[in-house]
Amino acid sequence: MKVRSIKGVDVSGKRVLVRADFNVPRENGEIKDDTRIRASLPTVKYLLENGAKVVLMSHLGRPKGVRVEDLTLDKVAVRLRELLGVDVLKLDDCVGDDVVRSVNEMSVGDVILLENTRFYKEETLNDVEFSKQLAELGDIYVIDSFGTAHRKHASTYGVSKFLPTYAGFLMEKEVTVLSEVIVNPPHPVTIIMGGAKMETKIGLIQNLLSKVDNFLFGGGIGNTMLAGEGFDLGESLYEKKRVELARELMLEAEVFKDKFVLPVDVVVADDVNSSEILTVLPEDIE
Ligand code: 3PG
Repeated sequence: MKVRSIKGVDVSGKRVLVRADFNVPRENGEIKDDTRIRASLPTVKYLLENGAKVVLMSHLGRPKGVRVEDLTLDKVAVRLRELLGVDVLKLDDCVGDDVVRSVNEMSVGDVILLENTRFYKEETLNDVEFSKQLAELGDIYVIDSFGTAHRKHASTYGVSKFLPTYAGFLMEKEVTVLSEVIVNPPHPVTIIMGGAKMETKIGLIQNLLSKVDNFLFGGGIGNTMLAGEGFDLGESLYEKKRVELARELMLEAEVFKDKFVLPVDVVVADDVNSSEILTVLPEDIE
């Protein structure tokens, strides 16, 4: 699958509205892992080097359409400033007159970060008027939020109806790599999959079941699979609501002969921050 890349597009002097995925893991209000912020840098740097004005937007968490102080993008702006080495103007909203004014006052090389798009319920509803309001903030739209691209929301989808749309470098890289796996992959192919949410990966797993040779599961999704096998996971992170789904998926995979490889041992501790850890069999989790 080919995406329409931003590379080579004339962005000079233009306002480029970039949808990034800054939905970073947090703990006590601090960013625990800035991988997603770092992943946005190649696109942002490229745009700046080519004379654009960069307007960034993202969601953080699931505030359900209301402003939640814990879920502002303030800390993301601080980290982004450090990583980019340029000033990032963080706005307190993502739409409205003040936002339009700030964006229209931008000079070439400026970077603005809008506030969490999910502070508006219109975001997840993919509301047309809200999409238009966001689209007013750019001359070009770049989607680079690979981790959120499956959501049909205003900032990931709706905006593309009103602006020339291109893929950022992260999006392009992920789609290229995935396409190689989906279309005619060299065998054997082994997929290593982790992450907290099973729901958004089910389609991918089902689609790839007949195409790849092995799936190795770890992390939260591996835990949900182990729970589906009947193991007691204690306080570990797993999706209690999706245990049945995990079980069904494993049954589906049985016809493909041992394709699903679950963790044979696990690391346990009393607390996630504990320095005392043990490696045990899944049946020995307390
Ligand atoms: C993620 O972390 O999986 C993405 O940012 C999407 O977040 P969501 O599941 O809240 O839509």
